[in-house]
Amino acid sequence: MHTSTFRLATIYLLVFAASVAAVLSYTYWQAQRLLQAQVEQTIAADVRGIAEQYAVNGLGGVVAVLRRRTQHGVPGGLYLLAGPDGEVLAGNLPSLPAKARRQDHSGWLDFSIRVITPSGPRKRHVRAYHIRLDNGFHLIIGRDIEHLYQFRRVIRNILLWTLGLTTLLGIGGGLLLSRNFLRRIDGITASVRAIRAGRLARRVPVEGSGDELDRLAESLNDMLDQIERLMRGMREVSSNIAHDLKTPLTRLKAQAEDALRAGNEEQRREALQSTIAQADELLRTFNSLLLIARAEAGQARAGFGEVDVAEVAREIAELYEPLVEEQEGSFSLDVPAHAPIIGDRQLIAQALVNLLDNALKYGRQARRKLHIDVLVRRAPEHVELVVADNGPGVPEEMREKVKERFVRLDKARSAPGSGLGLSLVASIARLHDGALLLEDNKPGLKAILRLPARQEKPPRRDDGGSAQAGA
Ligand SMILES: Nc1ncnc2c1ncn2[C@@H]1O[C@H](COP(=O)(O)OP(=O)(O)O)[C@@H](O)[C@H]1O
Ligand SMILES: [Mg+2]
Repeated sequence: MHTSTFRLATIYLLVFAASVAAVLSYTYWQAQRLLQAQVEQTIAADVRGIAEQYAVNGLGGVVAVLRRRTQHGVPGGLYLLAGPDGEVLAGNLPSLPAKARRQDHSGWLDFSIRVITPSGPRKRHVRAYHIRLDNGFHLIIGRDIEHLYQFRRVIRNILLWTLGLTTLLGIGGGLLLSRNFLRRIDGITASVRAIRAGRLARRVPVEGSGDELDRLAESLNDMLDQIERLMRGMREVSSNIAHDLKTPLTRLKAQAEDALRAGNEEQRREALQSTIAQADELLRTFNSLLLIARAEAGQARAGFGEVDVAEVAREIAELYEPLVEEQEGSFSLDVPAHAPIIGDRQLIAQALVNLLDNALKYGRQARRKLHIDVLVRRAPEHVELVVADNGPGVPEEMREKVKERFVRLDKARSAPGSGLGLSLVASIARLHDGALLLEDNKPGLKAILRLPARQEKPPRRDDGGSAQAGA
């Protein structure tokens, strides 16, 4: 009963009951007034007729009229002519009502009489006009208004029943509603507790009705999926770090020990320099891992803005062209004027650097003149950044595998690297809702970083309002 649903149901119920009571009372009051006015009008007409008789024929005329009326039966009509002491002279009322005896001027009178019916004596209500004649005689002209009282009783009963039923239905409905609601909330609470207790695979129950609780449950489940994905990623990263950084660290340590043991200055210097190179390589690996983790966590989206992929490609290509020429290779760049996307400029540049690094590093392993192509293609839906080389390429069955962390192909072992380059590019692609595709360049590898193009904003209406706001 403490739930908000129950409270709401109760408030609705109260409002509903109050409205019902108001409508019924108003109807009753209006109908009652109308009926009463009708009764009084007929009595008044009767009074006028009898008063005329009295004016013309005196008491005798009145007695004659009363006799006629009671004999021919005016329906519901009640009459009485009584002497100053109350003795009945004519009419169908059994006696002069006590109230009339106390009233010494003419006016309206309400009283009740007992009548004998087949089912026993009954009390009936009467409304009447009471006239004190000059000589102290009482003349009463009235109507049985029992039907008005019956009407009042019926309305009162309806009111009571309605209120009773509404209350019952309201409380029942409220309890039912809040129980149903509570049951589902309890389901969510139980799942959340279970998850907190470590059963991470548990999910919030969804009923399938598509209502707001279902939507809440679905959102919670999506969130839990995401958290689970992230946690799995983290676990993978940490176990990868543990396994794959052990070897270089051990090597680093061995080299440092060599340096300590080195006989002469020259050897010590060499050993230390190679130690530093190793440490640099390790730092690069760490950086890549951190970048991957950052991209996977979706955190990097905070730094998203408009990036012109064409411009990034031109900039990075400028750095790489001399490196390719150093290898006596050729380099070509095919880039449109602009290729806007929404993303992180630094990460896009890093992805291109990683792809170019690979093209340069592995492209020259084939025994032919190295050639590297960088192109940016624009389509309505996406922008593609392509790096193609004519090296040995990656066999079809390994193209998915090499995107994983620390995966390197056998012939790559001789080249420096940690196997994180492509997995960082793939993470960056995922972060941008894009994809990294590896294809056969016949010969060589063609790496395509596909990114969703920035959607043109709907044309802005430059009306007076925004101009003013701008000022
Ligand atoms: N352009 C390429 N040509 C041939 N093989 C490649 C190319 N790019 C990547 N690979 C293969 O994919 C593996 C993973 O690449 P990457 O993740 O960049 O790691 P790394 O370059 O540090 O080895 C490489 O070791 C290599 O075997
Ligand atoms: Mg690489």
